[in-house]
Amino acid sequence: MMTTRQLQDEILRLKKEKDICILAHAYQSHEILEVADYTGDSYGLSQQAAKAPQKNVLMCGVRFMAETVKILSPEKTVYLSNSGAGCPMAEQLDVEMLSALKESNPDYTVVAYINTTSELKTICDVCVTSSSALKIVNNIDNDKILFIPDCNLGAWVEKQVPQKTFKFVHGGCPTHLRMSVRDVKKARGAHPEAKLLVHPECLPEVSAMADYIGSTTGIMKYAKESDAKEFIIGTENSIVQHLQYECPDKKFYPLSKDCVCHNMKLTTLMDVYNCVCGQGGEEIKLDENVRVKAKACIDTMLTLGE
Ligand code: 13P
Ligand code: SF4
Repeated sequence: MMTTRQLQDEILRLKKEKDICILAHAYQSHEILEVADYTGDSYGLSQQAAKAPQKNVLMCGVRFMAETVKILSPEKTVYLSNSGAGCPMAEQLDVEMLSALKESNPDYTVVAYINTTSELKTICDVCVTSSSALKIVNNIDNDKILFIPDCNLGAWVEKQVPQKTFKFVHGGCPTHLRMSVRDVKKARGAHPEAKLLVHPECLPEVSAMADYIGSTTGIMKYAKESDAKEFIIGTENSIVQHLQYECPDKKFYPLSKDCVCHNMKLTTLMDVYNCVCGQGGEEIKLDENVRVKAKACIDTMLTLGE
């Protein structure tokens, strides 16, 4: 049985030998982040997907992230680290439901959180991520925005763009929805000096109590640059561990112990090893018609997000 270090060394050797780029979302475990070529939030991963020089890409994250790589780089062989890792939010709205919504709101621009299926993206106008949504919505040449599927992220954007009219559907991230006002009161009571940093996927009443709201990368940047010494983290709990590792002189507390994304946690270092050995994961294959249509709204995101 190999140790973690031996597994990591083998992964590093094999990815070089086989020309594989490993992309890892910030919610992956520390031992996976250590062997990745790039780690970051959904927007950063999309940018990397478009420009990684390697012939093969292994996405350690969830399905829509691997599909985004394939959509942008069809010539690459793209693997998802664990075929069971999907994002439940991405399945909340299907093409039929969105088509009906579009028909009753023909003058609205459809803004889709990137946490959607490739099929759904084929009928959306532009994708956004938590770190790019505000800029992109501001840059859209229409005052009417149909924001799907995360109404909490949408409400956070709406608050900052009052000149535009928003419509939402009822959707959201089951992981971030676990955090409540009660959790905030409890955590603030236990750590009165700590800053509260939350993800915009949280409930609006939780976000309203925060000192900072931003993407995973935004939260990490804020905590690293802040003069404060203690932080309550309102996002997936792996971020608490990563920050504690990177900033040993500061203290980080989870807003709720329940904020764990089991889909993100499915991928293990052994999965990554098996993938680079050519014995695991799932190769992403997309219908070319779907890929080309879905690409338009990701390309628009990358252009309007610049
Ligand atoms: P970001 O990394 O873009 O903040 O997204 C968080 C998330 O929940 C990804 O599924
Ligand atoms: Fe999906 Fe939420 Fe998990 Fe992100 S944290 S992958 S949005 S369920």
